[in-house]
Amino acid sequence: MSEIPKLPRLKTSVVLSKEKQQKLDAVLGPITITEDILSQIMAAFREQMLLASSTDENVRKRSDHLMMNTFIRELLDGTEQGDYLGLDLGGTNFRVVLVRFKDGVAATTTKYYSLTDECLSGPADGVFDFIAESIQNFLTTQGLENSEKKIPLGFTFSFPSTQLALNKQILLTWTKTFKCPDGIGEDPVAMLEAAIERKTKNLPVDVVVVMSDTVSTLMAGNYLDKKCRVGLILGTGCNAAFVENISDIEKWTGDDKDPRHVIVNVEMGSTGDNGCLDFCRSEYEKELDKYSNHPGSFTFEKSFAGMYLGELVRLVLVQLIKDGVLFEGDGGKLVEARWKLTTTDVTNIESDVGDSTTKTRAVLKKFALDTTATDEDLAIVREVAEFVSVRGAHIVAAVMSVLVNYVHLPEVTIGIDGSLYEKHPKFHDAMMEIFDKYSPNTKVNLILAKDGSGQGAAFAAVSALRQAVKGIRCS
Ligand code: GLC
Repeated sequence: MSEIPKLPRLKTSVVLSKEKQQKLDAVLGPITITEDILSQIMAAFREQMLLASSTDENVRKRSDHLMMNTFIRELLDGTEQGDYLGLDLGGTNFRVVLVRFKDGVAATTTKYYSLTDECLSGPADGVFDFIAESIQNFLTTQGLENSEKKIPLGFTFSFPSTQLALNKQILLTWTKTFKCPDGIGEDPVAMLEAAIERKTKNLPVDVVVVMSDTVSTLMAGNYLDKKCRVGLILGTGCNAAFVENISDIEKWTGDDKDPRHVIVNVEMGSTGDNGCLDFCRSEYEKELDKYSNHPGSFTFEKSFAGMYLGELVRLVLVQLIKDGVLFEGDGGKLVEARWKLTTTDVTNIESDVGDSTTKTRAVLKKFALDTTATDEDLAIVREVAEFVSVRGAHIVAAVMSVLVNYVHLPEVTIGIDGSLYEKHPKFHDAMMEIFDKYSPNTKVNLILAKDGSGQGAAFAAVSALRQAVKGIRCS
């Protein structure tokens, strides 16, 4: 097999001393993702997909994917009319979205509401009360609070859940920034409806569908490009969904009416929780996990997702400080600043071009290192940020390549939402390197479905109503 084509890597005129270069290589070498490792990651991922698709429940339990039937079969066809609402809960920002369709063209209004740290770690009821009040506020701003007709609402709820019906799930675990002590084993739609009743009484909304953000992103991507068959989130966490032929789903128990496909939520951020990726987990990933909100879980996304990439870069920098390669061994505040180097910081560092170091210096200022950093220090910080970022992009693209090959079409568009993909200047190109090599028979397009996880929730509400009219089984 040919080599993975290399992106034009950092080209600064700063040349490291031989000794520093060797020490840097000694740290980055062991965490380099070689072609061999990539192939093993892909094989492990393929295996998890297959296990999760089994008809045998005991086999399925061995997988750390869910491959969850979402019951969503209808995609948009350009004839949509009327108003639909979308909610998007999954990161720190909660969004309420209004989509007004006119002859299939969507006009979207979005409002963001910020969840406090107390809310994220308090009782689940608090989260749902917050959502109910936000919907009420949003409807008021849109003049819809007294709407005679209930507005169909799609709810993006981005946590691993068992889907029992279009509008019924059971939460398996909180992830990412959410640490509520309860809510697990409960239905987010029922919790939302109870909060609406408790806090707002008569909100004119009807929660017709609940889904993962990957699913809503797929819906939004498909609105932009009919070749979009895969939705991917590269944000705080990471996960994907795809359109699967019903005839290819062994464990399918629903009807086989048209449309004979359904969106499947892979729920893949947890790949590796059963140990299948142990062969390539670095010391940095293990340390990051130990201090994370949910230790021992969501192994895969901890290698690159937005909540973690900054901390991974920081841990590598700390090692280099300890080795005396960076800042003459005195890394000041950076050494103790767990989670304080964010993925936004990494994106900023990565936005410095050529010999410019303005953005890198600005990030180092947070840690009072901007004035002491030498040109060599700045070059090393930039190199580490690039190395860890490209490593992450290659890992996630490798598993997406497995999914693309599984979908088995001559051309596939992946609709992507999430600030890591949107803002990081090198993620897109680094991912494309992998598709070029590992999905040679498919033309892969990556498109940004910006705010797709909110907008697509409203789109899925359209699907839900259509399916009800057509009598397609939704549970
Ligand atoms: C986490 C969640 C998953 C979600 C993903 C992206 O992995 O468990 O449900 O889709 O983050 O937000």
